[in-house]
Amino acid sequence: MIKYLDLQRINASFEPELSDALLRVSHSGWYLHGEATAHFEQEFANYCGTAHCIGTGNGLDALTLIFLAYRELGVMNAGDEVIVPANTYIATLLSVLRAGLKPVLCEPSPETCNICVRHAETLITGRTRAIVPVHLYGRLADMEGVHNLANRYGLKIIEDAAQAHGAIYDEGLPGKENQPWRAGNLGDAAAFSFYPAKNLGALGDGGAITTHDAELAAIARSIANYGSTEKYIHLYQGVNSRLDELQAAVLSVKLPRLNKDNARRREIAKLYKENIHWEHLNLRSTVHAGDINEANVFHIFPIFSSRRDELQRHLAAHNIHTQIHYPIPPHRQEALRQEYGMQQLPIAERIHNEELSLPISPLLTDEEAGQVIDCINAFV
Ligand SMILES: Cc1ncc(COP(=O)(O)O)c(C=O)c1O
Repeated sequence: MIKYLDLQRINASFEPELSDALLRVSHSGWYLHGEATAHFEQEFANYCGTAHCIGTGNGLDALTLIFLAYRELGVMNAGDEVIVPANTYIATLLSVLRAGLKPVLCEPSPETCNICVRHAETLITGRTRAIVPVHLYGRLADMEGVHNLANRYGLKIIEDAAQAHGAIYDEGLPGKENQPWRAGNLGDAAAFSFYPAKNLGALGDGGAITTHDAELAAIARSIANYGSTEKYIHLYQGVNSRLDELQAAVLSVKLPRLNKDNARRREIAKLYKENIHWEHLNLRSTVHAGDINEANVFHIFPIFSSRRDELQRHLAAHNIHTQIHYPIPPHRQEALRQEYGMQQLPIAERIHNEELSLPISPLLTDEEAGQVIDCINAFV
């Protein structure tokens, strides 16, 4: 059987360091706001190349806290608009709504599944304050296009980097050409998720904000801690969202191997790209041979087919597990019916109807990838 993602195998490969780290925290008697969290925050800020990193309870909170902090700073006010891609996990939209702002949905580019900057420009109004490039499936969005747009219209750029730990934008951003930049450091602020299945995954929930902006960082950190910087003094109506000591210690064990793990994911992507009979099977890929580089950390390897459900059943019958990211787009969810009930977003909808995610992980062997390829190529 080939699992979609074998978390047990992945986590076992970090032993005995993982269990040692957990025991150290367990024996320390200190479980929140301690050394392990401060240590990981510093390491992750260094890794992303930002001045600040704030651990949070999860990725949804990381995004929400960024928007709440901008609200406190007066950069964004209730009802202001934020452009987000229509094909993302619902968390991106919920974070904007939670902060009392309005997510305006933008079609993706069918070639990349990431936000289409040309469509984004048509959505800008006098109330637009920010744009959220989601680096979907682990592939960096068109950050040069996003920066050009943001510069022209005075927008904040908030990266949803929940799926893109370690991805490098090596083309250089406007004004910063010839410098490699990592996800988390490509806008004004970024949110990460350390959900267990992510490229950098905890053993439970976790998240982080990265930013160069000291004021934003201080306010977000305070809101995450009940709006307090000093015990029992509350400046903001905050929330309780913490990266705890156990999860931080786990992440510190895993971070040093992230680049190597991402490189292995790229090797598997290359096997899929080169060996699946795309045209013969009428399958589409948004990954082109020249795209298998550091700008994509292949959190997900998506393929697209009008016969997606049949193909998924065919693979399952041969004990190969796949997933769909995502079966229903956010604007078609019952939870958001009031906000988007009648909106048509045909490009995003087609992606949701046709996407199938193949098994990919740093521990998937060439032989297992070969079995997936053979099984797909045998699909008639
Ligand atoms: C694109 C995207 N944004 C946000 C999130 C939210 O992260 P979390 O599940 O840690 O709250 C996720 C992950 O689930 C995600 O994939």
